[in-house]
Amino acid sequence: MALRNIVTKEDKILHKVCREQMKFDDRLHQLLDDMAQTLENANGVGLAAPQVGILRRVVLVIETNVGEDEDEQILELINPVIVESSGEQVGAEGCLSVPGEYGIVRRPEVVTVRAQDRNGEWFEYEGHGLTARCICHELDHLEGHLFTEKAERMLSEDEIKSGSEED
Ligand code: NI
Repeated sequence: MALRNIVTKEDKILHKVCREQMKFDDRLHQLLDDMAQTLENANGVGLAAPQVGILRRVVLVIETNVGEDEDEQILELINPVIVESSGEQVGAEGCLSVPGEYGIVRRPEVVTVRAQDRNGEWFEYEGHGLTARCICHELDHLEGHLFTEKAERMLSEDEIKSGSEED
């Protein structure tokens, strides 16, 4: 495994539509493993392939809604599509490619995503709360969109400071 460089919003690659992932081979597995290490190293909750310079429909989402004794689970979503969504949540969102900036974004409370795993098998997964937010955010990356385009407003520096003190 190796750390990959996370590109920031100025990079053109983040504004392009990603292509379907066709091969479920060692190269994809290497990408997924590298992305997992990169995500962990950056302390994020999700990462899309274009953020490491790869224009493919591949994302990772960390499932944080787990029991106290359980480890967080990394969801590998290849060629993901949201097939159902319901409810609404309004909250602050950030992105590893937009460091230091946060905005208020409206997202569904629950989403069901259909995707392939690293071996090409299709499955469905239902995400709630932060996981639903993260799935939507990462899938937007595959269409070349950043949360800053969807934010109702961006947070001020004072708001960011007072928010981080609560953590
Ligand atoms: Ni992002």
